Amino acid sequence: MKLMVVGGGGREHAIIKKLKENPNVTEIFALPGNGGMADDCTLVSIGALEIEKIVAFAVESKIDYAVVAPDDPLVLGCVDALEAKGIPCFGPRANAAIIEGSKVFSKNLMKKYGIPTAKYEVFTEMDAALAYLETAPIPTVIKADGLALGKGVIIAQTKEEAKTAVVSMMQDKKFGKSGEQIVIEEFLEGPEVSVLSFTDGKTVVPMISSMDHKRAKDGDEGLNTGGMGTIAPNPYYTKDVAGRCMKEIFLPTMQAMNAEGRTFKGCLYFGLMITKDGPKVIEYNCRFGDPETQVVLPLLESDLLTVMQATTNGTLSETEVKFSDKSACCVILASDGYPLSYQKGFEIQMSEKAKAQTFVAGAVLKDGKLLSNGGRVLGVTATANTLPEAITQAYALADEIHFDNAFYRRDIGKRALRALEE
Ligand code: AMP
Ligand code: GLY
Repeated sequence: MKLMVVGGGGREHAIIKKLKENPNVTEIFALPGNGGMADDCTLVSIGALEIEKIVAFAVESKIDYAVVAPDDPLVLGCVDALEAKGIPCFGPRANAAIIEGSKVFSKNLMKKYGIPTAKYEVFTEMDAALAYLETAPIPTVIKADGLALGKGVIIAQTKEEAKTAVVSMMQDKKFGKSGEQIVIEEFLEGPEVSVLSFTDGKTVVPMISSMDHKRAKDGDEGLNTGGMGTIAPNPYYTKDVAGRCMKEIFLPTMQAMNAEGRTFKGCLYFGLMITKDGPKVIEYNCRFGDPETQVVLPLLESDLLTVMQATTNGTLSETEVKFSDKSACCVILASDGYPLSYQKGFEIQMSEKAKAQTFVAGAVLKDGKLLSNGGRVLGVTATANTLPEAITQAYALADEIHFDNAFYRRDIGKRALRALEE
C-alpha cells in the first residue's frame, strides 16, 4: 500500500514511524515532511496548505490512503478535496473540522448540547466586549474565534490586560480574520489532561491520556509554546474521571456533531480541565496533538493503519485498539529563544539509539548533514514500565543528542510524579 501523510512536524514523524510497522505498507510520502524523516519516508516538496497540488499528487501517485495531520488543511477542506477524487482519508471533513476552526462554533455546540465547559460570551463588536469587561470576573480568558497558531488565547490577570487583548484582536487585527469574533470566558482551575480519541462517528475510542507542558521554561514559567514535552498516561485521568468524560463529554460531543449534520471521523482531541466540579472542555482539536502524539503512539500496540481505516469505513466498534500499560515521556529539544526569535542551521548529532526514538520537527538535510531548522527541533521519547523510568530514560537519550543552542525543559513529568505521590 502507498500512503501519504500531509504535514511536516514531530507529530507527523511519529505517525509515519507507526504506520511503517504495518508490513503491507510499501511506501509513505510526506508532504512536505522534513529532512529528519528522510530515512522513514519519501519527502515531497508540496506544502500542507497547497490543497490542489496535494490532490494532484495523490491521484498521480495512486495513493491508497491519505492522512491529513495538521489543523489548517483539515479546516480548509483537504479531506473533502481528496475524497472527491476517490482517495480514502484519515481526518474530518471541513464541516466537522470547524470544531477546532471556530471557537464560537464549539462553545455554542457545547452550550446547546449541555457539554461541560467554561461559561462564556461571544462578541462581534469591540465596544460591547470592552463594556462587558467592566464587570467580568478577573482573571478572564479571551479567545480569538479562528485558528491562530496556538497563540489566540490570552489569560488576562487584570482588567487592563483583558482590554489590551480585545483591542489587539478586534481593532489591530493581530490574528487577522480569526479575531473578528472573540469569546470571553470564565477562568477555570485544575490540572489539564489531553485525551486524543479515534472516532468514526458511531463509536469513540479514547487513546491513552497524556499531559502537555506548554510553557517554555521549568516550573511552568515563560511564554506559551506549541508544547515542550509530554508524558502518558496522565495520573489525573483516573478511572472515575475517564468514566465521567465518556458519559458527559466524549459521547455527547460525537452525538452533537451527528445531530448537526457534521459527523466527525478521524482523531478528535479533547483538551480537558479537571475542575472541582468535574471535567470540563477547554478546547477541541480536530487532529492529533503535538507533542501528545509522540507519547501516545509509541504506546499503541494495535496496528495504526488498521485503526485509521476503521474510522474511515465506520468499522471502529469491530476493531481492536489496544494500548500498552507502560508509560512514556517525550522531551522536546528546541532552539534557544523559542518561541520568540532563535537561530537555526546548526548541525544535529545523535547516537543511533537516540535517533531510533526521536521524532524530528524542524530540520533540513544539507550536504548529508541534518541541520536545525525550526523553533522546536525534535522530540525524544522513552517508554518504560513506570513513569519515573520513562522520564529518566528520555533525559538520558536527550543527553545523546547535540546541536548548538539546543534548549530543553528539565522538569517534564515532574507535576505528574507529584500527583502519583499524593
Ligand atoms: P487553548 O489554545 O484553547 O488550548 O488554550 C491554551 C491554554 O490556555 C490551555 O491549555 C489552558 O492552559 C489555558 N486556558 C484556555 N482556556 C482556559 C480557561 N477557560 N481557564 C483557564 N485556562 C484556560
Ligand atoms: N499540544 C497541543 C496541541 O496539539 O494543540
